[in-house]
Amino acid sequence: MSPVTVRPDVMDTKPYAPGLTIEEIKEKYGLDTVIKLASNENPLGASPIVQKTVAKFAPYVFRYPHNGNPRLNMAIAKRTGVSEKRIISGNGSDEVIDLLIRIKAVPGRDEVITYESCFSMYRLMSRLCGVDFRQLPRENGFNQPVKALAEAATEKTALVFITSPDNPTGLAVSADEIRQAAEILPENTILAVDEAYIDFARPADKYDIIPLLDEFPNIVLLRTFSKAYALAGLRVGYGIMDETLADYITRSRAPFTVNLLAEEAAIAALEDEVFYEETLRIVHEGRKKITEGLEKMGCEVLPSQANFVMFRPPYNAQELFEELLRRGVIVRPLKSFGYGEHIRVNMGTASENEIFLSTVKEIING
Ligand SMILES: Cc1ncc(COP(=O)(O)O)c(C=O)c1O
Repeated sequence: MSPVTVRPDVMDTKPYAPGLTIEEIKEKYGLDTVIKLASNENPLGASPIVQKTVAKFAPYVFRYPHNGNPRLNMAIAKRTGVSEKRIISGNGSDEVIDLLIRIKAVPGRDEVITYESCFSMYRLMSRLCGVDFRQLPRENGFNQPVKALAEAATEKTALVFITSPDNPTGLAVSADEIRQAAEILPENTILAVDEAYIDFARPADKYDIIPLLDEFPNIVLLRTFSKAYALAGLRVGYGIMDETLADYITRSRAPFTVNLLAEEAAIAALEDEVFYEETLRIVHEGRKKITEGLEKMGCEVLPSQANFVMFRPPYNAQELFEELLRRGVIVRPLKSFGYGEHIRVNMGTASENEIFLSTVKEIING
């Protein structure tokens, strides 16, 4: 008997390619120590307060979480200064991306647009929803074509995705540019601004889009606890959006997707100011150090507002990636993003950053 077939567009879909794990590299190269600077995770590990909270709530995992996570939504609302009715928590911001496309785009009729070499989830989710996916070229090779996206939208365009700060370039789009795009975009097209790395952008005011939400009910912000709050493994993200839109999602989504431990951990993470501030400090220091260090070695480094930088080494990028792996340093080659000559590296601890820089130097200098 042959296996069942599925929708033709699903049969063609290529899977998401995650970064390599530390265990995989230790085993492959027989190494004892491996550092991972490939998935934009938090350099400090999990906050001690979050770890205690997870242990404290472990006995209650036989219970269902509170559907819709009202306590978490309240905590996010307090932190961001918006009404809790505007918050949708999800199983990572990936789930919120999926929900937005599902509730907005009509399969077979509508489209999602974004730009080339962007975060792969927008394409994956659009395809799964049976929605056309269109990408515009970037400007000058790297910049997000914000105005061009707004101008390209038609009545078929259900959503436009812009990542700011962007993955993999680290470039951020100002609130003024988002306003200009929102003014051009059809009122009924969602402008989803994926702010997974917004905590690291400075000056914060320049990139703060929250003040635009009242004026433009079609703007949605996507945020995550995976980066600055160090909860990537628990999967928590959220969207900030117009109340009516949030209500449509609440009514139609599957229940309980943010689990009980994830909810408690996220609430604790929001309260752990010390850990959050230390994360920002270490990322900002590391970003400067890595940028300057790479530039000294003749690399072209993009000015990043995120917890990683993208650079072009004066050396074959794929070979540099493989040599780094052999020496126990995992970074992200960007061929799959369409930038075969570039590498992305996230900020680690001060000593991880040192190891990274000295290893690159050793390889480049032969
Ligand atoms: C631009 C962007 N958006 C969203 C995410 C996913 O975040 P989450 O872990 O909350 O699903 C990532 C993760 O790397 C990302 O780079």
